[in-house]
Amino acid sequence: MANPHELIDDRPDEGVFRINRAMFDDPAIFELEMRHIFEGGWVFLGLESQVTNPHDYFTINIGRVPALIQRGGDGVLRGFVNSCPHKGARIAHAACGQARQFVCPYHSWTFDSAGRNKGIKWKQGGCYTPGFDNDSHDLAPLPAFGSYKGFVFGSVTADVPPLLDWLGETAKLLDLVANQSEEGVESVPGSVTFTYEGNWKLQLENCSDNYHFTSAHPSYIRLLERRKAAEDAASNSFTSAMQSQRHWSGEDDEIVGGTFSFPYGHVLNFGVGTPTPVSPLFERFDWLTETVGEAQRDWMFNMRNLTIFPNLQVAENAASQLRVIEPISTNRTRMRTWCIGPKGESPAARKQRIRQYEDFYNPSGMATPDDTVAYEDCQRGFAGKVEPWLQGYQRGMATRKQGSSPLADRIALKPAWSIEGNSRLCDETVYQSYYREWARRMAGALA
Ligand code: FES
Ligand SMILES: [Fe+2]
Repeated sequence: MANPHELIDDRPDEGVFRINRAMFDDPAIFELEMRHIFEGGWVFLGLESQVTNPHDYFTINIGRVPALIQRGGDGVLRGFVNSCPHKGARIAHAACGQARQFVCPYHSWTFDSAGRNKGIKWKQGGCYTPGFDNDSHDLAPLPAFGSYKGFVFGSVTADVPPLLDWLGETAKLLDLVANQSEEGVESVPGSVTFTYEGNWKLQLENCSDNYHFTSAHPSYIRLLERRKAAEDAASNSFTSAMQSQRHWSGEDDEIVGGTFSFPYGHVLNFGVGTPTPVSPLFERFDWLTETVGEAQRDWMFNMRNLTIFPNLQVAENAASQLRVIEPISTNRTRMRTWCIGPKGESPAARKQRIRQYEDFYNPSGMATPDDTVAYEDCQRGFAGKVEPWLQGYQRGMATRKQGSSPLADRIALKPAWSIEGNSRLCDETVYQSYYREWARRMAGALA
């Protein structure tokens, strides 16, 4: 097995940061990641809007641990390990649904929507001891569970910082999503799940990767150009929505975006946008000005890709996507994705949001397939370890600075590191934050 501490060549004083290819394809490293990262701390589980009514539930994996998130008959949202206390079978099998009770398919023990055991088949004839009777037969609750503005998180270890401490400044970035409506954020009905043949960290990195856009998505860019030529300049098109984002088309000296890094491996990359009617959020422009103020409003119209390490990504441009990264093995990853939007959005804006969402995202969209093919290409390339060190982590290193930046200051956001620059900068140091947190979490792995 590769030594996890030797997979990162981090020498800030010499201006060097490199990642060893074994980071992505060593099964023993994957095993340690599951134990120390996905099963060793907070992970994102879902949105409260997925479980609005009593008895609503959804299932998700926390690393390798199956979890059940359910709203009880009392209206309280709870998280459990989705495993029967009898012999361990999973009791919930669907991705989501509504159930007043679950009957375990193996020996029919039953549980209510608050996780309480409501029946043990043939209990009377079972000749159980008082020792058995004194045990709880309920589902095991997740040792840490909580939500912030409708974003639900959990952990299968109790040894975690309080949720708000762990989110830190990124709570303000979740506010930019949640505060788009007085009622908060919701997932649009329907979701898309797909897998790719590559390591989970390829998706982690790609969300923060501005450098690939013009290289990996030429057909999408050509299509935008064709549409632009064909459409009236004033039309409500996704073309103009994307082209109102200056992050990939700005003048050479113009500040068009950047990246922020936060403790615990959370990062944001962003592009400065212009509020225009082609954004489905534009109908709320005046309301947002009154309720959250100009600075937050303007930030809501910026292109923003937020990663809450290790598994939540919120991508906001002309439409908004919520992604959950679920590692399956070193070279296989499942993505669960949702279109999200402000609750109470008008039908016209919602329709516009969904059309723009379909245009760009998911296996049926015009960008995601380009990305997943690139991940699979990288994964194949990782087999070559003649030169093990990868060099894709150093753009921006000479300009990265500790602390805040003018655009962060506008919303009193305090990143640990920040970069602002032109459209050609395409900072890569933002990934260093992922791997420094990775190293911190893996620190005890060898012990
Ligand atoms: S494993 Fe659930 S009842 Fe036996
Ligand atoms: Fe992409």
